[in-house]
Parts: sequence; C-alpha cells; structure tokens
Amino acid sequence: MTHSDGTFDVARIRAETPGCAHVLHLNAAGSALPSRRTLEATTDYLRLEAEIGGYEAAAKANDALEGFYPAIATLLGAAPDEIAFIENATRAWDMAFYSLSFAPGDRILTCVSEYSSNYISYLQVAKKTGAEIVVVPDDAQGQIDLSALERAIDARARLISISHVPTQSGLVQPAEAVGRIANAAGVLYLLDACQSVGQLPVDVGKIGCDFLSMTGRKYLRGPRGTGFLYARRATTAAIEPVFLDNHAAKWTDDNVYTLRTDARRFENWERYFGGVLGLKAAAEQATELGIDAIWARLRTLADGLRARLAGLKGVTLTDLGAVKGAIVTFAVAGADHVALRDGLRAQAINVSVSTQFSSRLDLKNRGLLNVMRASVHVYNTEEELDRFVAALDAERQRH
Ligand SMILES: Cc1ncc(COP(=O)(O)O)c(C=O)c1O
Repeated sequence: MTHSDGTFDVARIRAETPGCAHVLHLNAAGSALPSRRTLEATTDYLRLEAEIGGYEAAAKANDALEGFYPAIATLLGAAPDEIAFIENATRAWDMAFYSLSFAPGDRILTCVSEYSSNYISYLQVAKKTGAEIVVVPDDAQGQIDLSALERAIDARARLISISHVPTQSGLVQPAEAVGRIANAAGVLYLLDACQSVGQLPVDVGKIGCDFLSMTGRKYLRGPRGTGFLYARRATTAAIEPVFLDNHAAKWTDDNVYTLRTDARRFENWERYFGGVLGLKAAAEQATELGIDAIWARLRTLADGLRARLAGLKGVTLTDLGAVKGAIVTFAVAGADHVALRDGLRAQAINVSVSTQFSSRLDLKNRGLLNVMRASVHVYNTEEELDRFVAALDAERQRH
C-alpha cells in the first residue's frame, strides 16, 4: 500500500477501512477507524473464544499472542521484553508513575500542556507525599522551554513527565531534546505518547525515556480497551510495580514472591486477548506502511486543513509549537463548539471538542474554554477536507 516514493495507495487504504464507507472521520485523536485486518484479528479471536473456550483459545493462539511484543517493540526501536500490554494509556502511565516513590520536597517536572489524568495524579501524589509539582513554562512557540527545564533541575528533581502530543493541540513536544536533558541530569523520564505513536516516528533509544505509555485506539488504529507500556530495561528493572498479581510475580515460598524480570511485571493476568491481537495487527500494519511515510502524509493533510480553515470567516487556529502534527484545533467565533460538533455528527462528519477538563493549564492560560479538534489519519482525503470545511462553514452560519 506504500509506493516506492513514500506515497500511499489511499483508495486501497480506504477500501480496507470499513468505516470510510459510512463516515467522514476526523477524530483519529479520539479513536481512529481500524482497518479490516485489525477488525478481523480481533473478531476472529473473539469467535474462537466463543467456540472453544477462553483459556483454550489463548493456548491455541499462544504464538500469535506472543507476537504482540516484537510487533510493538519494532515500532518503537525497543526490545520485546521492554513491552507490557495494558488496557489503556492512563493505566499504563499509572503503572509507571505510581510505582515510583516520592519523598517530601522531591520535584516532578512537567509541562503546561499536560493531560488532565496525569496532572490529577501529580496532585494526588503531591498531597500524599509532600512532593512538589513544577510546571516548566512554554517557550515563545508554545512548546516546553528547554532552557527553563534545565534550570528547573536540581538535586530534588525526581521525574520529568510530559505528554509528547497533547490532547488539545497539534503541538509536538521536543521529546528527544527533553530526553537529552533528563539523561544528562540522571532524572527519570516518563513520556505520555498516547497521541504520538502511530502518528510520527517514536524511537525510545533516541528519546531516552525510561517509561512510555500508549493507547491502542488512536494513531495506531487499534481496538478500544488496548494499550501498552514501554519500560526501559536498564533503568526500570529495579522498579517494583505498584500492583502485583500472579502474572507479574510468582508466589515462590509461603512468605516470598518473585517478580518477573521483564516489563510484563507491569501487566495484569487477565486481559482483552482479542484486543492484543487487534493491536498487534494494527502495529504491524503501521510498520508496513512506514511510519515516516505516515508522518509525511498526515502533515500534508493537516497543513492543508489548517490552510483551508485559515481562510474561513470567524475561525482562529489554536495549534502551538514549532512542529505541528495531525491534530488540528481551532475556535469558531461566536459559536457553541459542542453544537457545531453535534451538527456535523448528524451529517456523519466526526470531529471532537477538547475542553479545560482535559488540559486545564494550557487552555485556561490561553483564555480558551474549549477548542474544536479535527484529527486526520491516512484514510482521509483532500476531497474529505473540502467537504468538512464546507459543512463546518454551513453549520457556523446556522448557529
Ligand atoms: C495526552 C493523553 N494522554 C492520555 C490519554 C488517555 O488515554 P486513555 O484514554 O487510553 O487512557 C489521552 C486521551 O485522550 C491523551 O490525549
């Protein structure tokens, strides 16, 4: 499906994405349309469970299920034993964050555009332990100020924790530059890559993160209820997971348990096996399409959408950052964004609205109650973008 010049056979991608026949989907950052291959990997397995029994299906599909780890590792430049399947990005992130210990005065360094669930966890841990949250300011382009980050690091800095691509804007944080600062200072680095993996090249070796959390349903086009955690072998082997079960550890003597040595000590025993296979298929497909080619196409589509929106009366683009990705956000003067979204949905055009509940500091600082979010993926076309902008303009005038 990828031509030798790096472009895609979009017609074929669309033909193999059942949802394209039904909706104009600009909500990949909510949950992208899966391919038929991903759908069938999931549903075939669910059928097998129903036909022969869940445990028996897992035994029969063992080799395929084990293939999940190399499929994800390949995408990230990681080793298979550094990957854990976890049911969503938040729990994957939680398993890393809540497994760390904080003492009074320890500092958690984060960014302005941080995701709400992560920030709520900082607040909870700060309340319980006396750790301090330090929000590193943005630079003039709206991404984390790297000099300010360097200045904020002192002997009490325990963790640098940021979101690579925030929920509420096209911003792509300079994750590799942050990693160089974290590694030079010997500070743990947790990267929320929930919106970036599958969208743009993410190489954990180049980024230098200790943990990376990810969800299946967004830019990887996997099933809902799937995700994973990358845990760097060299630094995280000594970190004991906040929760353990009899998959993460073995009860080896009456008063003794023995932890798994690989990243799967962060997993649960029970999981959505059909989802594991679906996410594996989705990851393999992203690797086959080529992540550089995906990134190039998504930027072309998103830049084209920004250019179209910039010409629309009453629309203000709200994306920040030196590098802008596949998530396009904007405000429409005088309009109720939720009503606009609903009006478009009634025409089978899917976009979403990001509110201060998902990223309070960033949107509040910019005086924005919420923004409209249109997020593209490889199955979108220029014709769809024209159609979306025309429909948005008509809705805007109706409201
Ligand atoms: C930056 C970021 N982190 C984490 C999450 C949460 O992901 P999940 O719903 O898979 O837990 C989101 C969801 O929108 C997000 O945008």
